[in-house]
Amino acid sequence: MRLFPKFAFQDRHRHIIALIKENTSRLIFAGICSLMISGATTTMGYLLKPVIDKIFVNKDAQGLMILPLFIIAAFLIKGLGTYGQEYFMNYVGENIIRRLRDQLYDRIQDLPLAFFQKERTGVLMSRITNDVNILKSMVSSAVTGALRDGSSIIGLAVVVLYQNWRMAIIAFIVFPLAFLPVIELGRRVRRVSTGCQQAMAELNAFLHETFAGNKIVKAFGMEQHEKKRFFTQTQSILKLEIKGVIVRSLSNPIMEFFAGLGIAFVIWYGGWEVIKGKTTPGTFISFLACVILLYDPIRRLSQLNNSIQQGLAAADRVYDVIEARSDIHDPPNPHPMRSGSHTVRFEDVEFSYGEKPVLNGVNLTVHDGQILALVGMSGGGKTTLVNLIPRFFDVTGGRILIDETDIRDFKIADLRREIAIVTQDPILFNETVRDNIAYGNLNADDADIIAAAQAAYAHDFILRFPKGYDTVIGELGGRLSGGEKQRLCIARALLKNAPILILDEATSSLDTEAEALVQKALENLMRGRTTFVIAHRLSTVAKADHIVVVVGGRIVEQGTHDSLLALKGEYAKLHEMQFAAHNGRAETAEIPN
Ligand SMILES: Nc1ncnc2c1ncn2[C@@H]1O[C@H](COP(=O)(O)OP(=O)(O)O)[C@@H](O)[C@H]1O
Ligand SMILES: [Mg+2]
Repeated sequence: MRLFPKFAFQDRHRHIIALIKENTSRLIFAGICSLMISGATTTMGYLLKPVIDKIFVNKDAQGLMILPLFIIAAFLIKGLGTYGQEYFMNYVGENIIRRLRDQLYDRIQDLPLAFFQKERTGVLMSRITNDVNILKSMVSSAVTGALRDGSSIIGLAVVVLYQNWRMAIIAFIVFPLAFLPVIELGRRVRRVSTGCQQAMAELNAFLHETFAGNKIVKAFGMEQHEKKRFFTQTQSILKLEIKGVIVRSLSNPIMEFFAGLGIAFVIWYGGWEVIKGKTTPGTFISFLACVILLYDPIRRLSQLNNSIQQGLAAADRVYDVIEARSDIHDPPNPHPMRSGSHTVRFEDVEFSYGEKPVLNGVNLTVHDGQILALVGMSGGGKTTLVNLIPRFFDVTGGRILIDETDIRDFKIADLRREIAIVTQDPILFNETVRDNIAYGNLNADDADIIAAAQAAYAHDFILRFPKGYDTVIGELGGRLSGGEKQRLCIARALLKNAPILILDEATSSLDTEAEALVQKALENLMRGRTTFVIAHRLSTVAKADHIVVVVGGRIVEQGTHDSLLALKGEYAKLHEMQFAAHNGRAETAEIPN
């Protein structure tokens, strides 16, 4: 039987060992403390022999003076050692947690957008918050716990052998029997523990979704439904945890029972030897005490396997993320990015999400300072098309060129520095209004920030906030309107002052009044930039230099507003639909279904 079931040494374990090695000096201190504990424990076991034989049997007055002092010293050393071991070991554990968290965040932040669209936020969060803790307990019990308990066992075993080797050998045959069932239990602990951690990650993801999306939960009256779903999840976590409790807590009674067998044997056999005068009562008591003292370290060592199994399961989940490789890389010899305005060209661009083809044979040129509008029914691939420019995804065929250089030949950071984006859902962070705008350029001073806010028509409403530019977005709760958020996002993009601008339905969720303001803000933003604008409302795109109609991942028509209308094709159809909707709003309500 193998001591560590299903354990195969992998690169990721080497990484953990490297993390442990970073703390060598503290580990050495913890090791010294461990040896103090085991030394003191062994000494106490050994001292019982002279205590009984000298003081109680021989009535030796000198021994009565000295031996209690030894006992005090042993306890003092054990206490100091215990404190030191706990302190250093936990320091190392917490330090490893911190390093792992940093590594995880560092990796996750650099993973491509596709990863975040695939993985659920709550599950990722759970990797950083929960799983690393389990690794910590593995490290602390595996490293110095093993040293403390291992050396205690050796020390006590030596004393036991020295006191009465015949009895010792028989006791040592009984004790190891206790290990056999415990090893099998360790295997199960690992399985159950993986299940528990996965369930916790699911729960995290669920909480995140239903709290963040609480408005929808309420709007659809789904509170009861979500509560029931939550209760089902906690119920299955309860079941899993209890399974874990059963497996884990079986170890102790099994061990204890075997220990009891050993002790009973020692009393029977040792008592018989004392009665026959072969052994002194001191030797017998000291022997018995050592056997009892052996119980705890052996029990803990047997659980070492459990905590290593749990830790390895957590390590696998953590390293699955740490080792996830981004398929969007910097080139080995990046091409320098010229600053100033740029021409963007799509050349036979194809793109598919996995097996699903989305873009096909897209050819486009947008010269510097021009505005290109993308229109078409939703699902046509407009967002996908603009997402290729900052390399959120890489083309699967053809290429995209900026000033005649393939964008994959630039450093990603250089490329993205040249691009500002305003998306449909205005994403702001829980910082001050000032910091949110300054996200576009951390070096901007207050005058720049205010100028950007003014150009975005945001300055006036910002001043009405309780603390003006110093108001934290979270303090406003949900009080910011869609248009206000949108204008803050525009201010942020304005401050970035990048020559390429992407507006992905930046106005589609606004009412007409807000839209007029945002529209003016956008016009400020677009001036002099190479702009890609995706818009639902054709009124917004009429001013564009060039309009392309995207249907089913292809460009089906292109031209100016007037030339496209004259074509009487897809664009004219879209225009007619909007025109009818706009002018006939009153009638529409009366048309059945
Ligand atoms: N991350 C994704 N994974 C798989 N399919 C996607 C993903 N994002 C978008 N799609 C699909 O690609 C197609 C084009 O989507 P999109 O570019 O968002 O269209 P549009 O912006 O024109 O509405 C749609 O069929 C959509 O379902
Ligand atoms: Mg879209």
